[in-house]
Amino acid sequence: MATRAFIDKVEESMHPATEGFEDLAWIFTCDSRNRGLVRQGFDEAAVLWKAVKATSGNMLEIGRNLAGSTVLLAAAAAPDREIYSIDNRSHEDRACKDYLGRAANKGRVHLLVADSRVPIPNLRFGFLFIDGDHTFEGVLADVVAHWNALQSSGQYPALVAFHDALPNDNFKWRDADRRLKRLWIRLKNKFRKRQKPEVAPDYEPGVLKVCDELIRQGLATKWRWAGSMLVVKKLGDLPRNFSEVTRKVQPT
Ligand SMILES: C[S@@+](CC[C@H](N)C(=O)[O-])C[C@H]1O[C@@H](n2cnc3c(N)ncnc32)[C@H](O)[C@@H]1O
Repeated sequence: MATRAFIDKVEESMHPATEGFEDLAWIFTCDSRNRGLVRQGFDEAAVLWKAVKATSGNMLEIGRNLAGSTVLLAAAAAPDREIYSIDNRSHEDRACKDYLGRAANKGRVHLLVADSRVPIPNLRFGFLFIDGDHTFEGVLADVVAHWNALQSSGQYPALVAFHDALPNDNFKWRDADRRLKRLWIRLKNKFRKRQKPEVAPDYEPGVLKVCDELIRQGLATKWRWAGSMLVVKKLGDLPRNFSEVTRKVQPT
């Protein structure tokens, strides 16, 4: 079996095309230089914001690092929504922690220090943000652990955002200034057993492979994307053999 390229049509949103500031990311230059406490480009963060707004219910974040993305989720979410954030280490920036500790957030933001591969019992989510272990096995394990806890609610779709899922131009600016370095890597590659890439990879093929499989197996459809961020809409629960089938698929 082979993975196929993304050819699905973008599903029409229930919202008009332009509804807020987050729809105007295209008028900015957006790439990895936008990254700060949130490890995302402006356009990627805008899509994440939009996805939170389009959903309802609890949210689960996998991988918060400095917790800039947790701040964004909390800011975008209606006050009655709970935010569960898992990371296997506590590495939050002070300013983010202060923001999440404010009265409006304190009771509803849960900063869990745990392995994201372990399901959280008795909780259901309306939105997942997967940005933890980016290896194929890591993303697959996260999806297997949490996908079936995701559910739509009335008019609100069940959405999942994957960071580092798509090829993009996030690092183009940096590599444009590295002609000499690229030449040097090319030269050294001639003498290496395992060649190094001349241009730094801008996405994680393992993340894309899992997303491709979710779509190919009819479990999800593309919703929105920007930079390396892909948001999919859940169409169905994972079958028991999802991991087995997905591991067998060879990239084209
Ligand atoms: C790319 S960073 C997250 C960036 C953050 N979402 C943002 O947008 O700013 C990935 C995080 O995933 C965490 N991580 C990696 N593997 C994990 C695992 N198995 N369980 C929980 N967290 C994990 C790392 O500790 C790291 O903080």
